[in-house]
Amino acid sequence: MKGLILAGGLATRLRPLTWVTNKHLLPIYNKPMIYYPLQSLVNVGIKEILISTSPDHAGQFANLLKGGNQFGVKLYYSVQENPKGGIAHAISLSEQFAKGDKLAVVLGDNIFGYNLKTTVEKFNKKEKGAMIFGIKMPGMESKHYGVIEIDSVGKVISIVEKPEKPKSNIAQTGIYLYDNRVFDFIRKQKPSARGELEVTDLNNFYLKEGNLECSLIDWWIDAGTSHDELLHANNLVAEKVRLGLL
Ligand code: G1P
Repeated sequence: MKGLILAGGLATRLRPLTWVTNKHLLPIYNKPMIYYPLQSLVNVGIKEILISTSPDHAGQFANLLKGGNQFGVKLYYSVQENPKGGIAHAISLSEQFAKGDKLAVVLGDNIFGYNLKTTVEKFNKKEKGAMIFGIKMPGMESKHYGVIEIDSVGKVISIVEKPEKPKSNIAQTGIYLYDNRVFDFIRKQKPSARGELEVTDLNNFYLKEGNLECSLIDWWIDAGTSHDELLHANNLVAEKVRLGLL
């Protein structure tokens, strides 16, 4: 399995912090944000990771992370010239890199306090399919994300992108595991109302054929959505690090 970290975009919601740098390089407590999703992929044993980023800041990522030796992995870099194409579009650009392997995709501003190793190992043994990771949210908070509806045995029934009336309190987080057919499915996608190739539409292809699984995790931070979330992420990570939990 190969790894892909999506670290592009304009991050307009975080300006002025992001006028001169990429949001995934902003500090979260004692490390640049991207260290956390990168470490999540390293922890599951992935050895080759592609970092997809924006043209203006690609060099800064290479300066910081270099070839990947410090993490025990081999890093590759690519540039996404259309930052508004959506997550599925960004995934499509990694087809050559994936070279027929399975792919673990993680959003560069997502921090997971959970070792995904066992789930990834289980997924790796499967011939085909996709795996998403959900988290239970308070109240109606899930409606700001992809919302996953599951039945009593954990089978995915539906997944809807930011619905007005969420059918469950489970939000889709920003880590996804795919078999190599992911690129064929993306080729069939059409842009959504906001003009993006949505990761939720992509996951629905797997759901339709009965090959989408969901694993529930217990904590996760979407650090790059607002200044408040960024502050929250800094405080939470500082606390977890002090307690030796991260
Ligand atoms: C994207 C996905 C959404 C997912 C979220 C996780 O949302 O479309 O399904 O729940 O990432 O961070 P976006 O950040 O593009 O609004």
